[in-house]
Amino acid sequence: MKPPSTSDRRVLSLFPFLLAYLLFIGTARLVKENFRLIKDQGGNAKPLSNLTNGGSLIDGCDLFDGKWVLDGGTRPLYEEESCPYLTQQVTCGTNGRPDSLYQNWRWEPHACKLPRFDAVKLLEILRGKRLMFIGDSIQRTQWQSMVCLIQSVIPPGKKSMHRNPPMKIFRAESSRCDKLRSISFTLRFGFQEFNASIEFYWAPFIVESNSDHFKKHSVLKRLVKLDSISKHSRRWEGVDIMVFESYVWWMYKPIINATIGSLDNVKEYDVTNAYELALKTWANWIESNINPHTQKIFFMSLSPTHLWSWEWKAGSNENCFNESYPIQDPSYWGTGSSRDMMGIVRDTLQDLAINVTLLNITQLSEFRKDGHTSVYTERRGKLLTSEQRSDPNSYADCIHWCLPGVPDTWNEILYAYLLHDFPLH
Ligand SMILES: *[C@@H]1O[C@H](CO)[C@@H](O)[C@H](O)[C@H]1NC(C)=O
Ligand SMILES: *[C@@H]1O[C@H](CO)[C@@H](O)[C@H](O)[C@H]1NC(C)=O
Ligand SMILES: *[C@@H]1O[C@H](CO)[C@@H](O)[C@H](O)[C@H]1NC(C)=O
Ligand SMILES: *[C@@H]1O[C@H](CO)[C@@H](O)[C@H](O)[C@H]1NC(C)=O
Ligand SMILES: *[C@@H]1O[C@H](CO)[C@@H](O)[C@H](O)[C@H]1NC(C)=O
Ligand SMILES: *[C@@H]1O[C@H](CO)[C@@H](O)[C@H](O)[C@H]1NC(C)=O
Repeated sequence: MKPPSTSDRRVLSLFPFLLAYLLFIGTARLVKENFRLIKDQGGNAKPLSNLTNGGSLIDGCDLFDGKWVLDGGTRPLYEEESCPYLTQQVTCGTNGRPDSLYQNWRWEPHACKLPRFDAVKLLEILRGKRLMFIGDSIQRTQWQSMVCLIQSVIPPGKKSMHRNPPMKIFRAESSRCDKLRSISFTLRFGFQEFNASIEFYWAPFIVESNSDHFKKHSVLKRLVKLDSISKHSRRWEGVDIMVFESYVWWMYKPIINATIGSLDNVKEYDVTNAYELALKTWANWIESNINPHTQKIFFMSLSPTHLWSWEWKAGSNENCFNESYPIQDPSYWGTGSSRDMMGIVRDTLQDLAINVTLLNITQLSEFRKDGHTSVYTERRGKLLTSEQRSDPNSYADCIHWCLPGVPDTWNEILYAYLLHDFPLH
C-alpha cells in the first residue's frame, strides 16, 4: 500500500480542525407538517427506457458525467418548510442563509436525461421493502433528503418516524384503515398496503469502532476494529436495498489506531491500508449474506469538502463560506478527495462476486462549493451564535450539505437505478 502523497498528507492533517465539531446529531426540528406536493420537474425528461446495468453506467450513459443547470422552475424538489423531518443541521435557509440559488440547480448528464423524480412511483417500488442508508452524518443527510423527497405524497396518519439508535426509521404504512384522506393517493394505490421503510443506520466506519455510539464519539481516541462487523451487520440482514458510505471519519490523520483479532493488540495503520482492510471485511459480509436476486446494494463514493478557497480562487485563504455559485471548471478536483481512497472502493467492488453499484457522486459534488451548510448550521446541537457566525474561518462547516440541496441529486440518481432495477409493470 502506497503512503499518502505529500498533498494528501497536508490535507489529512487539516481534517481534525473540522472533525471535532462536525459529526454531531442535531435535534429534530418540530415544524408543522405541510403537505405541499413535490414539484414537477418539467416534462422533457424522457424515461431511461433502454437501460442495462453495467457498473455505474446505465445503458452506456454515465449519469455522473454532466453539468449543473440553473432551473429555478423545477428546483428545489421540495421546500425546506414543507418537510418536517429536516433537522437544524441542514436547514440553512431557516438558519439565516441569505442566498437561495444553491437550491435551484439541476444535474444534467451529458449523454441522457435523468428520469423525472416521481415520489409515488418510488413508493410503489419500495412497497413491502426496506431501503437503508448506512454510514456517517453525510449518509444521514442523504437519508433525510430521501424522506423529504417522498413524504409529501403520503397522507397524514400513514407515515411515521421512529428513532431507535443507532437507527432512524421512516415508515409509510397503511395498517389503519383511514377514511379516504387523499383522493389522488387512493386513486393511484387503491387500498393496498404500503409498508415501505426508509432507514438510516449509524456506522461511520461501516465496520465496528469506538465511534459507534450515535452521540458519544471518540474523535481523539478513535479505534477501528477492522475485522469486526457483525454487531452492525446483524441489523442489515434481509434489508432489500442498502446504500453504504464511509470516508470522512477515516481522514483525521494519515494513520489510525485499529485492531485485527485481539482488541488488546492496537496498532497504527496507514489510513489507506486500514480502509482497504475494513472494506474487505464488508465485502466478505456482502458475499456471504446477500442474495443478488432479491437484494440490491449501492456504495456511494466520497462526498467532497470545500475547506480551502485557494483551491478554486487563487490567493484567497478562506473556505466555502459566502460561496453562492458552483465551480465552473469541468475538471475541478479538490485535494480533500483522496483518489487513493476512491481507488480502494473501486477495486473492492470490482473484486466482489456480487454486483454492487457505485454511486460515483464525487465529481458532480466537487463543483458545488456553494452547497455546504457553512455557518448556517449548528454545533453540538446548538445553532451557531452570531459571534461564531462572524468567524467563518473557525466555524464554517464545509463538509455537510444544506437541504434542499446537493444530496437530493444523489437521490435522483439513486432513483434512476431503482427504477431500472425494480421495473414496475
Ligand atoms: C439506448 O440508448 C442509447 C443512448 O443512450 C442509444 O445509443 C441506443 O441506440 C439505445 N438503444 C435502444 C435499443 O434503443
Ligand atoms: C453484474 O451485472 C452485469 C451487467 O448487468 C452482468 O453481466 C453480470 O452477470 C452481473 N454479475 C453478477 C455476478 O451477477
Ligand atoms: C412489511 O414489510 C416488511 C419488510 O419491510 C415485511 O417483513 C412484513 O412482512 C411486511 N408486512 C406486511 C403486512 O406486508
Ligand atoms: C494510538 O494510540 C496510542 C495509545 O493510546 C496513542 O499514543 C497514539 O497517538 C494513537 N495514534 C493515533 C494515530 O491516534
Ligand atoms: C460575500 O461575498 C460578496 C461578493 O460576492 C461580498 O460583497 C460580501 O461582502 C461577502 N460577505 C461577507 C460577509 O464576506
Ligand atoms: C468516478 O468518477 C470520476 C470522475 O468523474 C472518475 O475519474 C472515476 O474513474 C470514476 N470511478 C469509477 C470507479 O467509475
